[in-house]
Amino acid sequence: MSSSQRVFSGIQPTADSFHLGNYFGALKHWRTMQDAGSDCVYSVVDLHAITIESQQDPAQLHRRTLVSYAQLLSMGIDPQKSVLFVQSHVPEHAQLAWVLQCITGFGEAGRMTQFKDKSGKEGNDHTSVGLFTYPMLMAADILLYRTDGVPVGEDQRQHLELSRNLAQRFNSRFGETFTVPEPIIQKATAKFVDLQNPTGKMSKSAGTGGGMINVLDDPKQITKRIKSAVTDNEGVVRFDRETQPGVANLLSILGAATDRDPESLVADYEGKGYGALKTDVADAVVAEFTPIAERTRELLEDPAQLIRTMADGAHRARALAEPVLKDAYEAVGFVGIA
Ligand code: TRP
Repeated sequence: MSSSQRVFSGIQPTADSFHLGNYFGALKHWRTMQDAGSDCVYSVVDLHAITIESQQDPAQLHRRTLVSYAQLLSMGIDPQKSVLFVQSHVPEHAQLAWVLQCITGFGEAGRMTQFKDKSGKEGNDHTSVGLFTYPMLMAADILLYRTDGVPVGEDQRQHLELSRNLAQRFNSRFGETFTVPEPIIQKATAKFVDLQNPTGKMSKSAGTGGGMINVLDDPKQITKRIKSAVTDNEGVVRFDRETQPGVANLLSILGAATDRDPESLVADYEGKGYGALKTDVADAVVAEFTPIAERTRELLEDPAQLIRTMADGAHRARALAEPVLKDAYEAVGFVGIA
């Protein structure tokens, strides 16, 4: 990916803090791409957040949108270098999503595995139609910015494939309008597992939350959780996800926090026990997250200023999205009046 390439990515405001996996798996790379000179557009995708009924509490959504935006700023997403905006501030997303829904097959949408998983969990009566059309909204996010590359996790690969198909379909039916985006899947990114249950994914839905770490957690709590992480009885630090998933997870976290390959860290712990490793992991994570948490709290103390920054981001995003939507509307034959 060359430096002038347009990059788009989004994250949902569905938690009171981003977690360790969000940060090391995605958001840190957002910053790296920005700093490498890519033309980055990043969004807090609040329209996506309301596809699930349990995320429709208005006060909660409002708070989480502010806290998500503040965290992205605090992590070093620079609103001068990148376009950083909240999805609902740019109405073109919902407008283009409609058009894309109209060129998506019902069966095609029904094959999205994330829809099948989530609707299975919610049950038919609690599955919204918005959850079904979520991937077309995501495609709209991407296509509106004529995006070249989309950094996403492996779990989003199928949605990206749909976005590519919809771009190609639109272009061949209505004329060249959209760039066909490429996924940028961080292969090197380790999967982080639950500290208390190292065979399961680290997530707030798993267990009590005692096995996960959030960016905004208190440093003492971060340290405590890492020190009480489940390991094994071997007492020797090796990197083996199969037989030592807990230790491998700690090495993965340390690798992510220190920009080193986790396997290469093993040598540092020869003749040392798990205690030394845990101390280093805790220190590295606290060093990474504490400044972000402090800065986030400062930004949240002045919500009016934060909202002004959002407004500026929205303005910049709209300047990019508006002409693309116009092209798409004209291509399908809608009569322009301006
Ligand atoms: N679906 C993505 C996720 O849950 C979030 C998202 C929405 C997104 N729109 C996007 C990611 C556009 C990349 C590009 O992770």
